[in-house]
Amino acid sequence: MQRTQEMTSVQPDWENFYPRPVSDKVPFFNKDGRVYDCLFAQQFNRDLLTLLFRTADRLREVTQHKDGADYVSGLLSDKRAMLYFAQPSTRTFMSFLNACHVIGVKTSEIRDTSTSSEVKGETPEDTVRTFSSYVDMIIMRHPAPNFVEKTAWLMNRTGRPVPVVNGGSGKDQHPTQALLDVYTLYRSFNGDLDGRHVVMVGDLKRGRTVRSLSYLMKNYSGIRLSFVSPKEFRMEPDILEFLKRHGIPYEETEDFKGAMRTADAIYMTRIQDEHDKAGESKAVDYSPFYFKREHLKDIKENCIIMHPLPRRHEIDVAVDADPRAMYWRQERNGMWARAALIAYIFGVDGKIR
Ligand code: NCD
Repeated sequence: MQRTQEMTSVQPDWENFYPRPVSDKVPFFNKDGRVYDCLFAQQFNRDLLTLLFRTADRLREVTQHKDGADYVSGLLSDKRAMLYFAQPSTRTFMSFLNACHVIGVKTSEIRDTSTSSEVKGETPEDTVRTFSSYVDMIIMRHPAPNFVEKTAWLMNRTGRPVPVVNGGSGKDQHPTQALLDVYTLYRSFNGDLDGRHVVMVGDLKRGRTVRSLSYLMKNYSGIRLSFVSPKEFRMEPDILEFLKRHGIPYEETEDFKGAMRTADAIYMTRIQDEHDKAGESKAVDYSPFYFKREHLKDIKENCIIMHPLPRRHEIDVAVDADPRAMYWRQERNGMWARAALIAYIFGVDGKIR
């Protein structure tokens, strides 16, 4: 309550607020020195990442036995979360849902806005405000850029703010995907991420996962990035600027075979043609950006192959059997990383570690 009053007195209107740099906005989404609304990858620093990874590791250990599973599922049995997914989702939805269940948070969901009162003319803002009458957390995916952030901002100005977690906003950000991606790197390299060469491949322009993952790279030293994409789908300048500012070397190239040889991690992505305005993706030859079975002999012995999924043709199914194919484990890592994050937001992570 105290926080709401503070926020109301110091916050300008949304139109003035949202164009500000993320670094200026982050304090408004923190509470008592912790991340409260998880909206941007830039909110994760190295210490927080390590804390969340240790919590996630511990959760998977503890829940192997019924006693441990019962213990952690009691930690947040007084909390309820709303999953509002206004964009298609299989993994992120299932992963958050099961993450909630691991730590005992009860869940409700809206996945199809045509079944909500928005069809009666209610604004999306009023609809999401309604959720906070019933639940203690909102986990949300939305096609409109800034909508998740706006929800958090609005919520923080009400008498009953609840934390908002971004499950994917437009083309812009997918912070918890980046969290699980870095958790996957952390597990694959025994915690040693410094000095790695990370190669991101595909539709880098419209893929929110590679954008959020790029932000997280600032937390590790000696990282080198290769952005491999068709010229139409190059990484946006704002991310390149960010990397320059943080002294992270990167190259932009179309030579996938060249970049993969020295890679420690290859992060594949699909073409994001749902963002097409006039079918422009059809004019792009995406096949040079496929990881094929024959590439397995060209990559390092301990290189890992990642993908946020869903995949189309960009990774040969024959690659799945190779121990370096990490995407199915990456998917599962997401549930543990998200459970750790939710536990952290509610302040019970210390009871897990
Ligand atoms: C990604 C997304 O939704 O941005 N999927 C996911 O959350 N695992 C990537 C994609 O859809 O290509």
